Amino acid sequence: MYDKSLAMRQKKGFKRGELVKIVYNGQIISAYKGETIATALIAAGHLVSGYSHSQPRGVYCNIGICHSCAMKVNGIGNTRICKTLVTDGCQIESQNDRLREIE
Ligand code: FES
Repeated sequence: MYDKSLAMRQKKGFKRGELVKIVYNGQIISAYKGETIATALIAAGHLVSGYSHSQPRGVYCNIGICHSCAMKVNGIGNTRICKTLVTDGCQIESQNDRLREIE
């Protein structure tokens, strides 16, 4: 799908941040400084952040209100990944055993 807004931002000099590596459930993923963990995971194809009542949950509000995206980041549980920026080497773990088993 053609993204006109992305093309316009690139034309105006929009630049991504420095390339970094993050670790999600033991899997190394490329990300860019300045983007949130949620953005990096979605870009890498990880749309589900957990399960509730056997139903998959993902990023919902993306502004830090709903807690649907809570994960363990660098050992700190219930971190809202939609509000947390990536850092090189940061460790992200889903808080749901079922999700870790699937991925
Ligand atoms: S998606 Fe709602 S708090 Fe992160």
